[in-house]
Amino acid sequence: MSRPCVLVTRRIPGSAQAILSSACEVDLYTGDGSIPREELKRRLANKDALVCLLTERIDADVLDAAPALRVVANVAVGFDNIDRAAARARGVIVTNTPDVLTDATADLTWGLLLAAMRRIAEGDRLIRSGQWKGWALDFHLGSDLRSKQLGVVGFGRIGRAVAARADVFGMAVVYSTLDADAPGAGAEAAGRRRVALDHLLSTSDVVTLHVPLTPQTRHLINRQSLASMKRGAYLINTSRGPVVDEEALAWALREGVIGGAALDVYEREPVVHPDLLSLENVVLAPHIGSATVETRSAMADLAARNVLAVLGGHPPLTPVPFD
Ligand code: DGY
Repeated sequence: MSRPCVLVTRRIPGSAQAILSSACEVDLYTGDGSIPREELKRRLANKDALVCLLTERIDADVLDAAPALRVVANVAVGFDNIDRAAARARGVIVTNTPDVLTDATADLTWGLLLAAMRRIAEGDRLIRSGQWKGWALDFHLGSDLRSKQLGVVGFGRIGRAVAARADVFGMAVVYSTLDADAPGAGAEAAGRRRVALDHLLSTSDVVTLHVPLTPQTRHLINRQSLASMKRGAYLINTSRGPVVDEEALAWALREGVIGGAALDVYEREPVVHPDLLSLENVVLAPHIGSATVETRSAMADLAARNVLAVLGGHPPLTPVPFD
């Protein structure tokens, strides 16, 4: 009997490749950057499975080019790059990589929070430009974390992992979820107070975003919500770029409506709004929330194991729910 075929759109760690090769013929795209769309469609024509990244848009057009496809395994926890309704209509299972990247993403969130509040990236730029004149009592002052309030928007796995690290820094946590049934909605027991988003925005010293990108969350942070934040507050985004209206954020940073921001994700990656590039009070990271050697390996392994499960006639390990 012939072995099933899987297309992998980007180089993946050896262990994931070995997992796939143990049961499948692997067609690996080795070109630079994202696989061109026409090539993706052409190579998918005879494939049973696809391992893809968030940089590939998997929509009805792509799925129609893959009549034998049974599973799309996204190497990411987010799945806004995949048209789930189109997949469902064609009987294609979609999987993602939750849990394995929770700690890495929560750690980076705190790295960004510290970088923004203590002006670390700005200080690095200052030294490299030869402008540092030496220590002074009133030089390069940032903001204490202790006794401040952290507002976590979205209280799923990553939001909760971010909140769990707050005690070490002496920060109080409030959170809000957009969906009353969302995981974490009952987290009062863990000493976290759930509040309405308006309240969170107007009372938090730091607002950190951990919601998926959906029609409901697109531009959740806009001119109006930024204006309602505490003067001097910080905004951290490690979720998805379009959750924040970058134009409005640049305005809020420029006008001192908020004190600072730190972003790992952008509306039109890899393009960053030009106004943000020239502002000192925003830290810009290149979408590296899950970018550690260990985590990226674990993500790729999980995607590979999802493929094997589905092709072997078993339930996927981490299916993406169809709404
Ligand atoms: C994800 O998994 O959705 C991140 O954005 C990339 O790791």
